[in-house]
Amino acid sequence: MPKNYINKNFWRSKTVLITGINGFIGGNLAKYLLSLGAKVSGISNSEVKNRYLVYENISNKIQLSKVDLKCFKDVSKYVSKNKIDICIHLAAQVDVNVAKKDPFETFESNIRGTYNLLEALRKKGTVKSIIIASSDKAYGEYPLSKLPYKEDYDLKPLYPYDVSKACGDMIAKSFSSNLFKLPIIITRFANIYGPGQLNFTALIPDCILSINKYRKFIPRGDGSNKRDFLYVKDVCYLYTCLSYNLYKNKNYTGEVFNAGTTHGYTVDEIIRELCKQTSNVKLYDEIKKKYKNKKLSGEIKHQFMNYKKLNKYFGWKPTYSIEDGLNETIAWYKKFLKKHSYKEFLK
Ligand SMILES: NC(=O)c1ccc[n+]([C@@H]2O[C@H](COP(=O)([O-])OP(=O)(O)OC[C@H]3O[C@@H](n4cnc5c(N)ncnc54)[C@H](O)[C@@H]3O)[C@@H](O)[C@H]2O)c1
Repeated sequence: MPKNYINKNFWRSKTVLITGINGFIGGNLAKYLLSLGAKVSGISNSEVKNRYLVYENISNKIQLSKVDLKCFKDVSKYVSKNKIDICIHLAAQVDVNVAKKDPFETFESNIRGTYNLLEALRKKGTVKSIIIASSDKAYGEYPLSKLPYKEDYDLKPLYPYDVSKACGDMIAKSFSSNLFKLPIIITRFANIYGPGQLNFTALIPDCILSINKYRKFIPRGDGSNKRDFLYVKDVCYLYTCLSYNLYKNKNYTGEVFNAGTTHGYTVDEIIRELCKQTSNVKLYDEIKKKYKNKKLSGEIKHQFMNYKKLNKYFGWKPTYSIEDGLNETIAWYKKFLKKHSYKEFLK
């Protein structure tokens, strides 16, 4: 199927608002959309963590505003004053450990933040394409025999981050209903990894730190839980594809799309691959010893996704294998950590 969304004539005349632009996915997406000629603006509640944008030389090419989505007055003012053709809503409190310790901020940002934004966009009334980043976590726990998840599965999350994403997801569904008809697509993607992920509590960046001898890796579980991993470049193509298609065709309003690679990798397999690619057998043996008696609590045991619906609608499929994605990721961190200390990014 032709990649009609990689259309510079289309993107050159569009202003895209990315919420959470100085986060991991937001930064990568901003870079990709700029390369297609789009005008990119972004909001975030934090000014300090925009080092990825600076590092990649794109911070001066985007219009970045400090807006906390928890404050309706500020969101509303920003949305009404600025040109927005397409909005990709990524901003969220995403740290699962923070959510476990202090659920309040997670609920505030991820639930209130979502309805504040959607209400402001509803009042503006001119935005033609809105993508809401939900997550595979919104489904909650399903037995291994029911995986990969299907888009019509009930959302039955239990843990705070998972609940916050499911609430945002359902709120988005309501704004897309025939009552309000806001042009919205909801995405439920698997774990995402790649350059610019500066949340060093996430598995891959955390493990890369220990490979580079910055700190010791402490596994959260016994390595047996399964996760699916999408490379961030594939995710950027996908957001571009979805926002383009919704802009062109309102019939996609209210659709939900899962994305993953169809493979559930155990945490142990990911660690082993990272150690293998960096010729670090000794470290892998050390980490394996630490799995003993570790129990993962407050997190879903197994998750993986497929891309059947996406492929049927748009011909999309991931282009990176886990080996290639990890290879690029390791190389990026190696360079980045020569310029920046990971400690700058710890909360
Ligand atoms: N990274 C993954 O593996 C993954 C997988 C599936 C879905 N998602 C979803 O994708 C989105 C982006 O994830 P990410 O990994 O880039 O996260 P990130 O933490 O790197 O970026 C999130 C951004 O949101 C901003 N933000 C948080 N609260 C805010 C608020 N109240 N007001 C304004 N800005 C606020 C943060 O400052 C940050 O810039 C999230 O919605 C997440 O749930 C991520």
